[in-house]
Amino acid sequence: MAGSRQPDVPVDNELALRPWRRSDAHIVVEAYSSPDIQHYHFRRFDTEEDAQRWIQDCAEGWRSESSATWAIVDQLDGNVLGRVTVSTSLEDGYGEISYWVLPSARGRGVATRACVAATRWAHELGLHRIQLEHSTRNEKSRRVALKSGFVEEGVRRGANLHGDGWHDMVLYSHLATDDG
Ligand SMILES: CC(C)(COP(=O)(O)OP(=O)(O)OC[C@H]1O[C@@H](n2cnc3c(N)ncnc32)[C@H](O)[C@@H]1OP(=O)(O)O)[C@@H](O)C(=O)NCCC(=O)NCCS
Repeated sequence: MAGSRQPDVPVDNELALRPWRRSDAHIVVEAYSSPDIQHYHFRRFDTEEDAQRWIQDCAEGWRSESSATWAIVDQLDGNVLGRVTVSTSLEDGYGEISYWVLPSARGRGVATRACVAATRWAHELGLHRIQLEHSTRNEKSRRVALKSGFVEEGVRRGANLHGDGWHDMVLYSHLATDDG
């Protein structure tokens, strides 16, 4: 990863993944002002400067080979619709995927399609196993995991801190050898 520029990743005729840009900071602030994104990702950005630091951290994640974070964009108008990240553990051959979608872009497969494309990218990079986790209370994320072809493995108790305390987390995986 470090030896190359973070690529754009095609999704389909409508969507693409591209690296975040400093000029996207206002979108990041808007996204993290959405109560459920704040809740499930347990952070907020009060200023565009804070969001720009997050965007710099995304670029640093690529350079340090610890994560690849993309903006999910509508190819027609270039609008940012969401975010998908693959946290990478190159030595161990696995990654973990996470995502959010702006409220105005939900319910039309944006998260699912981005998740499938980012998982394919991660397998092509050489990662054998991609994990995905969501709170047992997050039914929408469960739909994304299942529609993206991830296989449920079990529940990790009290594993993640959210806005209202510790949540049990459902663990899934997608292997390079899995169909779809
Ligand atoms: C969870 C979240 C990412 C889902 O985003 P989304 O883009 O609305 O999800 P999707 O549209 O991919 O999936 C939802 C539905 O759209 C449907 N859909 C519509 N068009 C589709 C298409 N072209 N391809 C695939 N699915 C499509 C899916 O079938 C699914 O419907 P179903 O639940 O009735 O089966 C979003 O609600 C969110 O950001 N929530 C807050 C933060 C969060 O929970 N993050 C995840 C933490 S683990």
